[in-house]
Amino acid sequence: MDRDEENQLSPGDLADAWAEEAATWNEDPAVVAYADAAWASLLASVPVGSDAHVLDFGCGTGLLTERISPRVREVVAVDASPAMVEVLATKALPNVRFGVAKWTPETISDDELAAGPFDLIVCSSVCAFLDDYPGTVAMLADRLAPNGYFAQWDWELDPTAAEPFGLTSDGITKALVGAGLEVVSVGIGFDVPIEDQHMRPLMGIGRRVRE
Ligand SMILES: C[S@@+](CC[C@H](N)C(=O)[O-])C[C@H]1O[C@@H](n2cnc3c(N)ncnc32)[C@H](O)[C@@H]1O
Repeated sequence: MDRDEENQLSPGDLADAWAEEAATWNEDPAVVAYADAAWASLLASVPVGSDAHVLDFGCGTGLLTERISPRVREVVAVDASPAMVEVLATKALPNVRFGVAKWTPETISDDELAAGPFDLIVCSSVCAFLDDYPGTVAMLADRLAPNGYFAQWDWELDPTAAEPFGLTSDGITKALVGAGLEVVSVGIGFDVPIEDQHMRPLMGIGRRVRE
């Protein structure tokens, strides 16, 4: 099967919560600055080898995928939003296999794209949206190669906000430990000024130490 046949654009019945954002996602300066900063923070913290097999879970339009893919052997990019993945498909990245899939701990095992093992799994602004964040991290961690790394970036939860959203350092640490990962670091991933605000997401990094 060649890559075009393998890459799947639409499983048909997924409600697309991100359809409206998809068309303009790549042109939003904050989104692009976030991807640039996430990539720089990844390179500063985790080995990214030329032979690495990488999973970008919740890849969106592939902003992080397109930064990682020239540096590694292959990126598998998966997202629940057909519209987001449709934009990724137009980029025709040569060493990227992609698919539309809403992975949960119950569904992930059925997807051959999830087979792994992966040397690196990245989740950029995805984990806070998951129905079962700890369970999903555990399922992803099972797909890491020995010494493989898991890296996530998420907005820090402000419990005093009108509509609290995001994760805490403590919650990320507990999820990484619960997934059997060695916690490499949890803290502010980067600090990027944008208009009159700062983007300061949390970055969590875990490493699989067991065989
Ligand atoms: C804020 S966007 C981030 C997209 C991309 N990672 C980026 O940084 O530009 C969150 C993405 O997570 C995806 N997502 C959320 N839950 C998911 C799940 N269970 N399985 C796959 N993708 C999921 C959404 O479809 C959406 O595209």
